[in-house]
Amino acid sequence: MTKPRFYVTTAIAYPNGRPHMGHAYEAIATDVIARFKRLDGFDVRFLTGTDEHGLKIDQAARAAGKPPQSYVDEMVAPFRDLDEALGISFDRFIRTTDADHKALVQALWQRMAANGDLYLGRYEGWYSVRDEAYYDEGELTTGEDGVKLSPQGTPVEWTVEESWFFKLSAYQDRLLALYDSQPDFIQPASRFNEMRAFVAGGLSDLSVSRTSFTWGIPVPGDASPDGKIHVMYVWLDALANYLTGAGGLDGEWWPADLHVVGKDVVRFHAVYWPAFLMSAGLTLPKTVFGHGFLLNRGEKMSKSVGNVVDPAAMVERFGVDRLRWFLCREVAFGDDGSYSDEAIVERTNADLANGIGNLAQRSLSMVAKNLGGVMPRRGEAGESELRLKNAFHTGTDAYLAAMNALALHKALDALMGMVTAANGYFAENAPWALAKTDVARMAEVLAATLDATRRIVILAQPFMPGSTAALLDQLGVAGDAREISGLNTPVEAGVQLPLPAGVFPRITLDG
Ligand code: MSP
Repeated sequence: MTKPRFYVTTAIAYPNGRPHMGHAYEAIATDVIARFKRLDGFDVRFLTGTDEHGLKIDQAARAAGKPPQSYVDEMVAPFRDLDEALGISFDRFIRTTDADHKALVQALWQRMAANGDLYLGRYEGWYSVRDEAYYDEGELTTGEDGVKLSPQGTPVEWTVEESWFFKLSAYQDRLLALYDSQPDFIQPASRFNEMRAFVAGGLSDLSVSRTSFTWGIPVPGDASPDGKIHVMYVWLDALANYLTGAGGLDGEWWPADLHVVGKDVVRFHAVYWPAFLMSAGLTLPKTVFGHGFLLNRGEKMSKSVGNVVDPAAMVERFGVDRLRWFLCREVAFGDDGSYSDEAIVERTNADLANGIGNLAQRSLSMVAKNLGGVMPRRGEAGESELRLKNAFHTGTDAYLAAMNALALHKALDALMGMVTAANGYFAENAPWALAKTDVARMAEVLAATLDATRRIVILAQPFMPGSTAALLDQLGVAGDAREISGLNTPVEAGVQLPLPAGVFPRITLDG
């Protein structure tokens, strides 16, 4: 039987600085989704990478005194290293300077041109280099020193330039029809409403080439009748990475099932991107999910405030699985959220050391000590086993529904409910007391606890790939029985379990 497919992407980061916690957060959340889909029997393609052209990168390279290509070649390394440290299970790390991508963008341009959607004109308006975005006058605010600011709070400059335009205005009705027929296209709902209102307010044509610098993909063909060299607008180039990563204009992985992006770039993904695709006659992605912003103790991370944290240092300090767990558990996916060392210590000690770790450690060490490490047989289900079973039935359904709805935090709520039920079952049946009075019953209680633990750890895998693998080894779960489809297949009685070792030690603030 062929597996259903799932193609998921992150935004591609600008490598004009080191990766920060916001990048780590997006990579982790998307990786959790990709891993969950694989666990649930999907054939997954997961794409991530870097966005390397445009004025912003050109300026950063100049400031560093390097040619832009050498600059990005250097700057991309910490992004790749971070993905490695975070356990990001991507299938391709795309760079927009990759040869196949450049060719694809030019082919995409030609399709849009063939459809009559590109024309030469002159752009006069506000541009933010930081956002690589054009804004209408009405969207701007005025900052302290009279500087005009974009809705993202970045400075804008008055720009006058010959450029190619894309007839975005012609797509207003088709975009509104898309939103109305597919309200799931933009998630969560709050972002959907924002985007619909933006489009309903009217769309101007979009300037899609630049002539004032050359660090970009050249507009193809006889495309410079004005005698100037045009390079493509960096967002057209960047968005097309999702097609390159799918295998090209007719790529086997297209359309994407899910684009995971931050709330600041939803407009590009939910308005410009579908319009470009419609123009080129291509299928649209199924969903754009706009996650919230990660804040450091409630404050925006910025170099000037000096609160930019190196995510690689966080991994060193807390361990990758604690960081992954914390970010998915503490932040409601879609909302802004905050992190601090204290919160990470507190949350992971409560959930992992006291919760899952304690459950596994206590039951496994009793089996090692009292039963020679041999997996015990389960007994007839009594009242407390039935209660446990019910809690797990409800909990598993809630977990699966939440994961499928991309409510990662709700899935972890459901999972922690199961941990509480299993720890409650263990305490109520006190197998340590049964060890002295009724060894047969003790064995049954341990068997039921280990099975509950197995289910919890299977479902925790997308969030904590490393520690769950170690725990599943200790629980005697075979490599091919670790998927959702294996949830109802218990470890057979009589299996010899390895010696248990704690996987989630408590941590303290001072390391
Ligand atoms: N290069 C563009 C995206 C192109 S996608 C075709 C870009 N790059 S970025 O480096 O500025 O941001 C990359 C991703 O990180 C975006 O989805 C952005 O929203 C996200 N985040 C940047 N700062 C963030 C936080 N503080 N918190 C969470 N995500 C944040 O935009």
